[in-house]
Amino acid sequence: MKNSSAIGWEHFLASCREVTSLSISGESIEHALGDLFGSLDCQDPMLLKLFSTMDDEPCVDYRTLLPIDEEGCRVMLILLQAKIKIGLHNHPKQTGYVYCIDGRVDIQAYDECSNNGLEAVLEKAYSLSLGPSEHAFLSPETANVHSLYGEEKSFLIDVFVPYLQPEDEYLCRRYQDPYCQREDGKWLARIIPKS
Ligand SMILES: [Fe+2]
Repeated sequence: MKNSSAIGWEHFLASCREVTSLSISGESIEHALGDLFGSLDCQDPMLLKLFSTMDDEPCVDYRTLLPIDEEGCRVMLILLQAKIKIGLHNHPKQTGYVYCIDGRVDIQAYDECSNNGLEAVLEKAYSLSLGPSEHAFLSPETANVHSLYGEEKSFLIDVFVPYLQPEDEYLCRRYQDPYCQREDGKWLARIIPKS
């Protein structure tokens, strides 16, 4: 049965702008975005149309769409095909909320403890199998490095705050999967050189 207090896609986007403009972080913004996603009508025709348009076009790995890409907030729709992996990468100085609309996605998340430019020391933050109505959260301090693997064809909504500043783009990194676990439990992962 449809939640009578559910909000439509346009209302959701406007509320995202409001929430992400507040000076809140950490658990506060996770809870605020959680409330917002909890009230989203996932059957809203506009939202379904956006996803179906993405799904209509040939896509062998993943496809993204940016309904909001502004200074304070980025909202991204993701269609991730089954058996496709988005390898380890970070989101420098950003907070992110990854919400599963449909499908199932495996997420491996790490904190970066250090890096020497060639390889990084990573500490496991969590390992999640994300299904419909479930979310993963990352902040500048924790779980900022993650990978996504489509256990099934999946439809996701990401909210990132703030916008990635141009002066921080040099901090963006991609990593190979960790190749070694140290005695202290932390992992070593090679950083993929920028092309
Ligand atoms: Fe990401």
